[in-house]
Amino acid sequence: MSDPLPDPATLPPIRSARPAQTAALMAETGLTEAMLSELVHSFYARVRADPMLAPVFDARIRDWGPHLEQMVEFWSSVALMTGRYHGAPMPAHIDLPVTWEHFGRWLSLFRATAHEVCPPEGAAHVIERAERIARALHMAIEDHAGNARGAAPVLRPGHAP
Ligand code: HEM
Repeated sequence: MSDPLPDPATLPPIRSARPAQTAALMAETGLTEAMLSELVHSFYARVRADPMLAPVFDARIRDWGPHLEQMVEFWSSVALMTGRYHGAPMPAHIDLPVTWEHFGRWLSLFRATAHEVCPPEGAAHVIERAERIARALHMAIEDHAGNARGAAPVLRPGHAP
């Protein structure tokens, strides 16, 4: 026999700009804010111990407390559409000394952490988004480096130069 459903009054309130959408995503993926916080903290503990990634982060981040808080807000917004993150990821990455190899490493640590911390649907949900954002950040870094070297801007169908 399955457990009775919890009384909604006993559940923590959903802090979201779109509570109905957030509740639907939580039901579909099994993700919670507490799980995303655990994901962020375990993931960055691995990043900080990783020989390839740690030096890139150490050169930029003095105080990890605010960065981790911001990353929990980011994942809450990306995975559960809560609207809690108000930053701009592109400028933070555009001139980092990284190649696709760094992103590959970042993604492999992220996938391993997501599978440990989240149920399978939740892990698939955050991994799909991380992969999409990693590709976009990498493309922006490459374009920026190409433009800085004086190369012609990369033309893509449907986009004016
Ligand atoms: C090679 C991979 C990556 C490296 C080395 C990296 C490094 C960094 C660093 C050093 C910062 C702090 C920048 C600063 O405060 O000056 C940062 C911020 C951030 N990163 Fe990454 N990152 C990587 C991949 C990603 C990916 C794949 C995502 C998203 C899925 C992401 C999301 C963010 C966000 C949201 C911030 C905060 C931006 C802000 O609002 O200021 N990063 N990252």
